[in-house]
Amino acid sequence: MTQPAPNRQTAFNHLRALAERPGGQKMTRLFAADPNRATRFTAAFGDLTLDFSKSAIDDTVLDALFALADVAGLGKFRQRLFAGEPVNETEHRAAMHMALRAPADSGLKAIMPRGTENAAAMAGAERDKMQAFVEAVHSGKIKGATGQTFTDVLTIGIGGSDLGPKVATEALTIGRTDVKMTAHFLSNVDGHAFADIRKGLDPARTLVLVASKTFTTLETSMNAAAARAWIVAALGEAAVASHFAALSTNLKAVAAFGVNPDRVFAFQDWVGGRYSLWSPVGMVIPLAAGWDRFQQMLDGAWAMDCHFRDTPLRQNLPVLLGLVGIWNINALGCATQCILAYDDRLRRLPAHLQQLEMESNGKHVTLAGAPTGWDTCPILFGEPGTNAQHSFMQLVHQGTRPVPVDFILAANADHDRPDAHRALAANAFAQAEALMRGKSEAEIRAEMAKAGASQAEIDAVAPHRVAAGQRPSNTILFNRLDAFSVGRLIALYEHKVAVQGCVWGIDSFDQWGVELGKQLASGILPELQPGSEKGRHDSSTTALIQRFLTLRGEA
Ligand code: F6P
Repeated sequence: MTQPAPNRQTAFNHLRALAERPGGQKMTRLFAADPNRATRFTAAFGDLTLDFSKSAIDDTVLDALFALADVAGLGKFRQRLFAGEPVNETEHRAAMHMALRAPADSGLKAIMPRGTENAAAMAGAERDKMQAFVEAVHSGKIKGATGQTFTDVLTIGIGGSDLGPKVATEALTIGRTDVKMTAHFLSNVDGHAFADIRKGLDPARTLVLVASKTFTTLETSMNAAAARAWIVAALGEAAVASHFAALSTNLKAVAAFGVNPDRVFAFQDWVGGRYSLWSPVGMVIPLAAGWDRFQQMLDGAWAMDCHFRDTPLRQNLPVLLGLVGIWNINALGCATQCILAYDDRLRRLPAHLQQLEMESNGKHVTLAGAPTGWDTCPILFGEPGTNAQHSFMQLVHQGTRPVPVDFILAANADHDRPDAHRALAANAFAQAEALMRGKSEAEIRAEMAKAGASQAEIDAVAPHRVAAGQRPSNTILFNRLDAFSVGRLIALYEHKVAVQGCVWGIDSFDQWGVELGKQLASGILPELQPGSEKGRHDSSTTALIQRFLTLRGEA
């Protein structure tokens, strides 16, 4: 049963067969049988540990997972990724976001149809430009149109041009007293969002960043136009040059918007939107948290890059995290993945990982264009712990379908309430233990009897209190949530996504599904003008358009 499988489908079948071994995967039994289980199923990189022992995994399963990785060519894929080969095959692009955090002289390159680029050198040059800009804003050398220094930064972007910068900015600034500027994020085209943000903002002291890889995204264009009108109304047309900066790969479109060329920060299309927080798209992070912290975050991500690139697969954290996920999804049939960061500063992490994982690996065909024949990305969701415990964790403990959980926790906090941090940690560890062990009906009956419950009460209530246990989780524990560990953590998940995409044989770096929604929306937009000609749609869409206009009195 442990022989390497000859092809991917056989390897997946083999995994499923292992999951069906009678009783072989009972976690409580695996722990009882092996006092060293926690050590043997924990991997470390510096102070960062990944404990995956609370999964229905034994040595046979691990061998089968590595056999699958072997069949999928994971080692070769990793080499191709770091060599800058066009692993994003449907867009003929490298996926070279690692160059954004690598030293400029690291030699990382991107092999593109237009030629091979020295990606690390290009990224390094732009990083120097960013640093000069950020420091000039902080020192007051760069000011607003009225001569006042900037106190606030409004960053306009959506998806990857919003979520990554947001989670990182929050992680690096919440609770700190040395924050350099107040960051505001505008993503939704819903006008209520900007109406709310601008209420508390002084245009004279606000620097506006327009972050868009393509600079063609409808929501960002409309919000950027609204912010421009707001600045012009308050400070005059000439103020636009001082108050706007653009972060994009599309320099032509940026020029057409009228951003001062000195305020344009570029990156290349070998960086995917959901991997762009490390690029100029992440400009808000150093503006709010300071340059040094941003650099430390890049250093943390680069450390994880080197770990992923150089560490043997069996000790490699992104590889293990990815393969444990493959086991849960493809062998046990889990359709979801819960992310519980026990740190309020990471409250936006689930949102970022949703895009990172679901946009990357929510695919149904292989690189060859054929149906995969196996499941791919699960549905991610999450909330900060302990809040989650008081909302959806009921289902995770007792629902009908197992939901794998990643618990994320720093051992040391940055506030002055050690008791609160111990309570936080106790909750994280208790949840993971309870999910694994559960509570049997016999235990519950004994407990209720001891508490003096009547037999009738015990018979009626005991079944409702049973928690079957056997619910998998990983625990990611590290020393402290600082800029370095934030970078390392996000890069860990980026590479986990790459590992899983390789195993599933899909293109993790395109996003054609989202493009479809974008196209259709721009087709319907003109039809929502009163009196406009209507296109051909299904009867539901036609009726909804009509009803929308009627409710607005514009039919
Ligand atoms: O809608 C999908 C998407 O293309 C994401 O991949 C991207 O992060 C987001 O839109 C925003 O795109 P842009 O940065 O080009 O405005």
